[in-house]
Amino acid sequence: MLDSSSGARSSFGMTYRITQNARKTSVKVAANKGRLVASSRTLAHNALTAVHIVHCHAFSYIQPREPMKKDTLLTHVGRNPAQSHGTVNTPVFRTSTVVFPDLESYESRDPDDFKSMRYGIHGTPTTFAFEEAVARMEGGHQAVALPSGLAAITAALSAFVKMGDHLLMTDSAYAPTRIFCEKQLRKMGVEVEYYDPLIGAGIAKLIRPNTRAVFCEAPGSLTFEMQDIPAIAAAAHGHGIPVLADTTWGTPYFFRSFERGIDVSIHAATKYIVGHSDVLMGVIVTNEQYWLPVRHAVAEYGFCVSPDDCYLALRGFRTIGVRMKQQMANALTVARWLAARPEIQRVLYPALESDPGHAIWKRDFDGAASLFGVVLRPADRARVAAFVNALKLFGIGSSWGGYESLVTAPHPEKIRTATTWNPGGPLIRLHIGLEDPADLIADLEQALARLG
Ligand SMILES: Cc1ncc(COP(=O)(O)O)c(C=O)c1O
Repeated sequence: MLDSSSGARSSFGMTYRITQNARKTSVKVAANKGRLVASSRTLAHNALTAVHIVHCHAFSYIQPREPMKKDTLLTHVGRNPAQSHGTVNTPVFRTSTVVFPDLESYESRDPDDFKSMRYGIHGTPTTFAFEEAVARMEGGHQAVALPSGLAAITAALSAFVKMGDHLLMTDSAYAPTRIFCEKQLRKMGVEVEYYDPLIGAGIAKLIRPNTRAVFCEAPGSLTFEMQDIPAIAAAAHGHGIPVLADTTWGTPYFFRSFERGIDVSIHAATKYIVGHSDVLMGVIVTNEQYWLPVRHAVAEYGFCVSPDDCYLALRGFRTIGVRMKQQMANALTVARWLAARPEIQRVLYPALESDPGHAIWKRDFDGAASLFGVVLRPADRARVAAFVNALKLFGIGSSWGGYESLVTAPHPEKIRTATTWNPGGPLIRLHIGLEDPADLIADLEQALARLG
């Protein structure tokens, strides 16, 4: 008699699965008042394997279904101490191979089931915990984790377009998204048409019989135009076309993509979800309709993530609420101070009342990321470089969404094609971290003196 105390009360589907396995293998597994009991008269190895499967397959993260405020959900989703020997966090499950009790159960694996243990490439309980947490926070159907935000973008796009298709891509897209479109999608025979990010319902005019997807990014991560996603989605859906969006800036915490009409939401989890600048990861969240096409595309490309990275990503995600609320408050303080400075022409931040995208941001988002643009008064390259190099608390480097402040001086004008970007002065992008904003302002003040 083998006794597993994994507790199956909250995993009815899995109890059924084990019972089926048991019937097939002569290993008897029964639910006994919430405890799974396995017995084998003849095949000890099979019985052991069956109990192992109970532990792996029966892992359930789904917490009580009653409505919860999002901070409560964030604290409880994606973990179940009752099923992990009392550990508060879902442990790291490392494996490539998953063993089955017999050939029949191995051969009857469900190819559409991406939330059970089949093979390490499709995920482990650690992966599923992270995916579950992100999907539920955002209000999507399911999520899949990928090795980077860019991998999430390319895999999601590849699920929707093939040779001869037409894709509508926002002109404000993250530069490597454009490069993928130019180099890979064009090579595959996909026609990519860039559109004005402010097009709104006007997107309808660009839709052709072979248009297969509209891709948005709200707001653009260099130029910060806020897209009217509900208007774009209404037009696209009117033609039966899905809307994909890079929602990294909004995050699952501040932007409920699916309530705004997005079908496939793509995050560079590397940013605020991970939150500590120590893991690269992407995550795609879909509605029910597009889950299987997207998930199969990810599987066909062979993308998977390490359980250790997933563990760190979920650990970071637990605190996204407090981090983002604080970072937004810090960013608003710094942005307002900058907006009043004589060296600054404009601050590009939808959370500011003066921003042209403010009304849409207020309507559609619960908060703002701490990433924004600053257009300086005309200054030559040497003075811009002197300003950036003089900053002591802002790291110069790619990425954002960590706990620390960053600065870059991007050139979106070099990559635009459907619209021109000419704000009348050099652009600086700031990511505001968890430092005290008074220190950040003092740092900016001393560096601005270099512009003079
Ligand atoms: C808006 C946006 N989307 C996607 C990505 C890609 O994320 P990753 O660096 O994880 O590939 C980035 C990275 O900077 C980004 O800024």
